[in-house]
Amino acid sequence: MGKKLYIETLGCAMNVRDSEHIIAELKEKEQFELTDDLSKADLILINTCSVREKPVHKLFSEIGYFNKKKKTGAKIGVCGCTASHLGDEIIKKAPYVSFVLGARNVSKITEVIHKEKAVEVDIDYDESTYAFSDFRSSPYKAFINISIGCDKKCTFCIVPNTRGEEISIPPELVVQEARRAAQNGAKEIFLLGQNVNNYGRRFSDRDRKIDFTDLLKMVSEIGEVKRIRFTSPHPLHMDDKFLEEFANNPKICKSMHMPLQSGSTKVLRDMKRGYTKEWFLDRAMKLRSLVPDVHISTDIIVGFPGESEEDFADTIDVVEQVKFEQIFSFKYSPRPLTPAQNYPNQVPDEIASKRLSFLQDLHLSMLDAISQKEMGKVYEVYFEELKPGGYVAGRTDNNWIVKVKGSEELLGRFVDVKITKPGRLSLEGEVLVNEKV
Ligand code: SAH
Ligand code: F3S
Repeated sequence: MGKKLYIETLGCAMNVRDSEHIIAELKEKEQFELTDDLSKADLILINTCSVREKPVHKLFSEIGYFNKKKKTGAKIGVCGCTASHLGDEIIKKAPYVSFVLGARNVSKITEVIHKEKAVEVDIDYDESTYAFSDFRSSPYKAFINISIGCDKKCTFCIVPNTRGEEISIPPELVVQEARRAAQNGAKEIFLLGQNVNNYGRRFSDRDRKIDFTDLLKMVSEIGEVKRIRFTSPHPLHMDDKFLEEFANNPKICKSMHMPLQSGSTKVLRDMKRGYTKEWFLDRAMKLRSLVPDVHISTDIIVGFPGESEEDFADTIDVVEQVKFEQIFSFKYSPRPLTPAQNYPNQVPDEIASKRLSFLQDLHLSMLDAISQKEMGKVYEVYFEELKPGGYVAGRTDNNWIVKVKGSEELLGRFVDVKITKPGRLSLEGEVLVNEKV
C-alpha cells in the first residue's frame, strides 16, 4: 500500500495552486496518494495564510488537533505564508511539527519530508522556472502561476514578506502549461499572481519586453483554450491598452477583480496603493462603458488606521457608484512586519465592526437589484460541479454562478442557459436545447 497524504489548504487561489504543486511532487516523486481521512495519513500538511490574524491563531489549534488524531509515526508539516513568516517559531511552539516549508519554497517539499525539523523559508528563493509535476484538482479549469511574490508593499499587507519580491514566470513556460492543461480538457485557464497586470517587470534570467496584455494575447492564441480568467490585477496598472484587450479579446472572461481597499484618497495614500479615488472611478467607469455586461468584484478594508467617518463615506460613495457585483470586505487586521501596524490612530474595534456591517448590509441590498436584472437573460454556462438536490453548477463568462437541474453529462460543457431565478450568490436557470461544444 502506498503512503497517504492529507492536505488542508487555507487562503487564496495562489495557495490552492501551491497545494496542487505539493501534491503533484509528492505523487510523482514519492508515490503518495491523497486521502480525506486524517487518521490514515502518513503525512499531514497544512498550507497556511497569514494575511489576517485570525487564520494564524487557528493554525495552532488546527495542528494540535492533527497531532491528537494522527496515526503513530505520521508526520505533520506546516507550509505557506505563516510558515514563511514564523519559521522555526512554529516548531518551538509545536514540537511535534516535523518541518516548516515557506510559500516560496514549495519545490523543496520532496527534500523536507526526509529531514527532521527542517525549516525552509527563504523568501529570496527563485522558483520561477521550476518544472513542477502535474496535478489539478479540477479537470475543467487550470490555475497557472504567472508570477511569484509582490513588489508593491501596501502598508497593511504581509504578503511581500512571506512571498518575497516579484518575479515573472517566462511566457513560454506559461503558454506551454496552458496548452498542456487545455489539451487535457481544462478549457478554462486561470492566470494567477499577486499583481498580474504588473507581469513582465522582472524575469529571473534576462530582460524581456513583454507585459500582461501581450501574455493574454499569447494564451488566447492556444486553440483549445476557450476561456481565460486572472487574479489579482491592480487598479494602478489598468491602462487603456489592458482594458481594451480585456474588452475586445473574446476569450477573456468579462469579470474583473478591482481591489479598491478604500475609497478615500487620503487612506489610499497611507496604504501606498498608488492611485486616487478618482483614478479608480475613472477605470471602473471606462470598464463598464467598454463592456456593458462586465462583472466587477473588489476587496475592501474598513478601519484602516486613521480612517475617519468622511473617509469611510468615500468608500461607500465608490460602492454606490461602481455597483460591484461582489465585495470581499475585511476589518483591518494589524500584521507583523508591516508599517501600518505602527501607525497612530488605530480605529477602535467597535467602530470598524459597525462600518463593516454597514458596508455588508448595503451591498446585500444592492445585490437584490443587481441580480434581479439577470432574470430572463441567456448565458453560455461552463458546467464544472455537481450540487446536492440534482443540480449542476457552472459559471457564465462574467462569473455568475448558475445552477440548473441536471447530471454529470453537463460537466465540462458549454451550454446556453436561460436565467429563471435570481439570487444573491448564484442564479438558477434552465438549459436551452441548442447545446454547444
Ligand atoms: N495581491 C492581492 C492581495 C492579496 S491579500 C490584491 O492586490 O488583490 C487579499 C486581500 O486581503 C487584500 O486585497 C486585502 O483586501 C485583504 N488584506 C490584506 N492585508 C490585510 C490586513 N492586514 N487586514 C485586513 N485585510 C487585509
Ligand atoms: Fe499585498 Fe498590495 Fe501586493 S495587497 S499582495 S502588497 S499588491
